[in-house]
Amino acid sequence: MTELNFKGKEFVWNHHLTVPFRPLEPHPEKGIGEPALDGNLIIHGDNLHALKALLPTYAGKVDCVFIDPPYNTGNEGWCYNDNVNAPMIREWLEANPIGIEDGLRHDKWCAMMWPRLRLLHDLLSDEGTLWMTLDGNEAHRAKLMLDEIFGEECHLGTLVWEKSDSPRMDAKVFSTSHDFLIAFAKSPDAMIFQRLEAEEEDLPDHYNLRSEDGRPYYLKPLRAMGGQGDSREARPNLYFAMTDPDGKEVFPIRQDGSDGAWRWSRTKVEAEISRIEWRRDRGDGGWVPYFRIYADSSGGRPPGTIWYHEEVGSSRTGKALIKRIFGESSFDTPKPIGLIGRILEISTERDSIVLDSFSGSGTTGHAVLEANARDEGNRRFLLVEMEDYADKVTAERIRRVISGYPYSGVINTELYKERLTWTKLKNAEKLTEQVEKIENLHRHEYDAIKKAVKDGELIVTPAYSPKSG
Ligand SMILES: C[S@@+](CC[C@H](N)C(=O)[O-])C[C@H]1O[C@@H](n2cnc3c(N)ncnc32)[C@H](O)[C@@H]1O
Repeated sequence: MTELNFKGKEFVWNHHLTVPFRPLEPHPEKGIGEPALDGNLIIHGDNLHALKALLPTYAGKVDCVFIDPPYNTGNEGWCYNDNVNAPMIREWLEANPIGIEDGLRHDKWCAMMWPRLRLLHDLLSDEGTLWMTLDGNEAHRAKLMLDEIFGEECHLGTLVWEKSDSPRMDAKVFSTSHDFLIAFAKSPDAMIFQRLEAEEEDLPDHYNLRSEDGRPYYLKPLRAMGGQGDSREARPNLYFAMTDPDGKEVFPIRQDGSDGAWRWSRTKVEAEISRIEWRRDRGDGGWVPYFRIYADSSGGRPPGTIWYHEEVGSSRTGKALIKRIFGESSFDTPKPIGLIGRILEISTERDSIVLDSFSGSGTTGHAVLEANARDEGNRRFLLVEMEDYADKVTAERIRRVISGYPYSGVINTELYKERLTWTKLKNAEKLTEQVEKIENLHRHEYDAIKKAVKDGELIVTPAYSPKSG
């Protein structure tokens, strides 16, 4: 397996083992209800120590880890602070914070992440999955580190989250509108991986037929076509007579008139006869057999690899929610609750434990509470944040969500804005679909949503005061 080498790797390789255990100190006055190590926890401190402290109680018990660590853009001012016993790494402590000019920026980031990822791996249950957002600065290095820690075969996918809903006109090169979401399973054979709820409109357009009992399907010709296996010579067992609705025998015949082959064996045709449908669409008016392919919507739909902002929210909707909860922009880089909500939908059951060790404004905790409210679940969250705002923002958000947050002020958040051009107007149907999606996404957050055209722009905004928790 290709491995990633970074400066300091040999020193941090087993650093997670040497980090000393520190017990967690409860602060009952800051919580709601009795403090309990097995309840929802918000831990203020460096996550290396916090994860170590969680090990005795939670090793092998966490079903979902979501992390949104520093992306290492060079502008975040994050610091390397780990107490690793090696002179080279000690020197790194002098060069904080890590800026764009730091030639070891990527090595330091990997050295910081490595022991934390090892501890997160230990905390995951066999059914557990880890999800991490990053951008092009570190996603490729993170993938290689995770390959090494989890095993390459445990990589579920590297998805694209469309974080922005409008282009950046000041971009020097590309206007980047996505982040990556890397997903790994502790054990792909045992993992929790739920399909998403399927709506009729999620079906691809070609499922345009409906069965007698209303199930969507499309048709595929029963005769094999193209490739070497479509001749009688190649597949003699698949050349046999079928009986058409007029009682006549029909054989598979290729375009050039030679003997062909069916896609299904005689046994399969007999077993699945209810899926065979005859159509009179041959040039001579004769019958042609097709078979039905039903959409398996009963079991939901598999999540795609591009998560659009209309479905899961954007950076802007993440910030708008913070503004609603606090009445001001108390945190700069929150993820939208819909993004983490979808991760929970896929990766948790009603009693799962969810861990976020870079929790920032506490979106993960909020999403866990929402998921429980939706399905009467009993999921629990473990959040870690090292900055001083662990109480004033992270924990305060959770307290406000639990007790219902009052709101005062005017909402001037735009949920969607689109300059109307002739091309856009010609595709009005697409535009209205887009607006409907935005409405669906935000309906639960506001009392109403207003659409207006102003100065050549279509603008969608929340109309009234939001629900107060
Ligand atoms: C990008 S923010 C996460 C935002 C979060 N997903 C949200 O929706 O609000 C990353 C957070 O990780 C925290 N952080 C960085 N290094 C940390 C560490 N070693 N231990 C604990 N928290 C850390 C930062 O203070 C910051 O709040």
